[in-house]
Amino acid sequence: MEKLEQLYEGKAKKVFRTSDPEKLIVSYKDDATAFNGLKKGTIAGKGVINNKMSNLLMQMLEKAGVPTHFVEELNDRETVVKRVSIVPLEVIIRNISAGSFAKRYGVKEGIVFDSPTIEFSYKNDELGDPLINAYHALALKLATEEEIETIKRYAFKVNEELKRFWLSCGVTLVDFKLEFGRLSDGTIVLADEISPDTCRLWDVKTGEKLDKDRFRRDLGGVEDAYKEVMNRLMNNI
Ligand code: TMP
Ligand code: ASP
Repeated sequence: MEKLEQLYEGKAKKVFRTSDPEKLIVSYKDDATAFNGLKKGTIAGKGVINNKMSNLLMQMLEKAGVPTHFVEELNDRETVVKRVSIVPLEVIIRNISAGSFAKRYGVKEGIVFDSPTIEFSYKNDELGDPLINAYHALALKLATEEEIETIKRYAFKVNEELKRFWLSCGVTLVDFKLEFGRLSDGTIVLADEISPDTCRLWDVKTGEKLDKDRFRRDLGGVEDAYKEVMNRLMNNI
């Protein structure tokens, strides 16, 4: 697969065209941002970890019946993925209160919900990714009703699979963000990445944060936390 020109550079990844019009190459960077790009930094080795972790989890999800954009890992930082047009919704599933949920509703972090929640944000940097409901998403023609139903079904399935897997690694899956895309025939597939950048992962025993919140909140030990979750994943996959 030949890597051609760069199409796009995001906050954490670059995307390249390939000789196949239906395939792209993503390249994971060590750059980290938070608060809509306001806070910037580097997490050494993050790109390598996120590339490998996302690919392993996506392959696990494929086996469980969730279609994904994953095609083939090329090297430490680069992966071939199916070309999709991204549905401009960030899909957030929560099992435990944390982050913006705790802030918005004035509750402490760590409340275990009886059943998982789902919410959507409109992917729009200029607007700061505002919270949006399904009716608004339909009104704005961001997705069809059928697509939203499919996305919800896949998102809860991803939660069940990932929750079980992370628990076997001694890690609590608190919440996470997913993005979905459409293949050229309209099929909805899971896209973007699943990594400590996009999930809250807490040690089951100590509650220690093993994810990007260490960077967002200046808790220190960011690189070690990413390495720790990656090691646990490799020992249990
Ligand atoms: P939140 O509590 O800040 O809304 O975040 C919920 C989850 O989504 C958390 O696991 C982090 C992830 N997330 C992203 O992946 N990208 C983002 O831009 C934001 C705000 C959150
Ligand atoms: N990556 C997002 C940003 O820079 C936010 C986050 O993950 O907290 O805006």
